[in-house]
Amino acid sequence: MARQKVTVVGAGHVGATAAQRIVEKQLADVVLVDIVEGLAQGKALDMMQSAATEGFDTQIIGSDNYDQTHNSDVIIVTAGIARKPGMSRDDLVATNAKIVSSVVEQTVALSPNAIYVIVSNPLDAMTFLAWKKSGLPSERVVGMAGVLDSSRYACFIAEEAKCSIKDVRAMVLGGHGDSMVPVPEYSTVNGIPIEQVLDAQTIEKINERTKHGGAEIVKYLKTGSAYYAPSASAVAMAEAILLDSNRLIPACAYMNGEYGLQDVYCGVPVILNKHGVQKIVEIELRDESQRALNESANGVKALCDKILATV
Ligand code: APR
Repeated sequence: MARQKVTVVGAGHVGATAAQRIVEKQLADVVLVDIVEGLAQGKALDMMQSAATEGFDTQIIGSDNYDQTHNSDVIIVTAGIARKPGMSRDDLVATNAKIVSSVVEQTVALSPNAIYVIVSNPLDAMTFLAWKKSGLPSERVVGMAGVLDSSRYACFIAEEAKCSIKDVRAMVLGGHGDSMVPVPEYSTVNGIPIEQVLDAQTIEKINERTKHGGAEIVKYLKTGSAYYAPSASAVAMAEAILLDSNRLIPACAYMNGEYGLQDVYCGVPVILNKHGVQKIVEIELRDESQRALNESANGVKALCDKILATV
């Protein structure tokens, strides 16, 4: 069988690192695209020259146009500007809305069967916009945030519980912003609810740290935002799609009545496979988690309305 194909748009920190992870894992061939002339070509060539040492047969090419992206199975969109200290993800909205619109418009006709994984921020609103612009069924446009936020939560749980990260399962729902919703009732250390492992004060502390996990890194980096964990999360989603593996993961999906939410993209547990979001999994939430989810979704909705009025 011919290898599958992933287009990664944006050859910056997140995009280039995602591309590297995909070829090194031999998941698919990659077309890396960036608007800056030579950037994607140079990085792709550099990665190809690591193939002998890393031992991968997958191919990566770079381009400043979309000609070679036709018939992609997955399109990961990381194009846009990243946060600087003091900025919220929502501050990126005007610039990134134009970029994401143009990326989707240019790629969708060439790859009519692709599943889109959106990474550009503000994530939930950009995923909504990408879906609108694509004209695709909503299950084929999904946003990356739940995997990342849950991975950050898991990291902090393992640190506080002094246990192996391999035994931690963590769940964060809602929008990818300060209003995200860590869900301790579905976070465990090898099946043991974290509330039996950590005291309430510690859980509250790591909930807050998770919500501001991205900002903590922006503050250190000063000139940009996180990319190792974001790229790993985007690739985990691409992998679930390419391998049709039915992963149950939190992802930014289109709500059509699920969780009482309507016509909004928001982070919820989904089954992800070659069809994209095969199913939204509705779990029972505590009242406080459901309330926080509603609030978070309302914030996303307000931003989406603002965007739709401008693009
Ligand atoms: N088409 C293709 N590429 C573009 C376009 C466009 N219209 N506009 C910008 N880009 C490219 C830039 O040239 C740059 O190389 O997108 C890349 C973004 O890379 P970085 O600035 O390194 O940003 P990065 O850290 O990768 O973050 C990208 O992901 O996590 C989110 O908030 C983050 O929105 C940001 C995005």
